[in-house]
Amino acid sequence: MCGAPVAESVKTLGDLKGIFRDQAAWQDSDPDREVYRVRWWAPVVSGNEGGLFWGVTILQPGRVGDEYFMTHGHFHANRTRAEYYATVAGIGTLLRMDAERRTWAEDMVPGGLYYIHGEHAHRAVNIGDVPLIFWACWGSDAGYDYGTIQQHGFATSLLERDGKPAIVPHSS
Ligand SMILES: [Fe+2]
Repeated sequence: MCGAPVAESVKTLGDLKGIFRDQAAWQDSDPDREVYRVRWWAPVVSGNEGGLFWGVTILQPGRVGDEYFMTHGHFHANRTRAEYYATVAGIGTLLRMDAERRTWAEDMVPGGLYYIHGEHAHRAVNIGDVPLIFWACWGSDAGYDYGTIQQHGFATSLLERDGKPAIVPHSS
C-alpha cells in the first residue's frame, strides 16, 4: 500500500512501557528497537460511521525476558464493532479477552482468518523466528480503548518455557 491516505505507526520497546511482565528486562532492553509497525489505509475520516479501514501489521520476532514480542492490544472504544485479522506470514498467537478477563488463544498461521467480536480485546504475539505479518479490517467508527489494557493488562501471557511457547496466567 502506498499513497496519501496510508498512515504508518511504529512501536519500539520504549513505546511499550508497562506491557511486558519483566520490567527489569524491559529496562535493560534497547528502547529504540522496533517491535512492530502498522500501515493502514483510512479512506474515510476516523469516527465516520459505515467506513472500513485496512491495515498491515509487521510484528518482529524477539522477547523481553521470556515473553515474546507482541502488540499493545486494545478493546474497541465502540464495543459493537468487530474486526477481521488474517495472517499473511510467520507464526503467532492471537490473544482475545472479554470484559470478564476470560482469554482465548488461537494459532496465527499463514492463510488463517480470525473474526474478532467487538467486545473482545485483541493482541497478536510473534512466537516464531521471522516477522509475523497480518492484515486487519475494521470499522472506521470502532475507535480504540488502549487504557483498559494499559491499566489492567491481559489475563494471560505467551512465555518461552523450555524452548517452546507456553500460555501462562498473568498472576503466576
Ligand atoms: Fe482492533
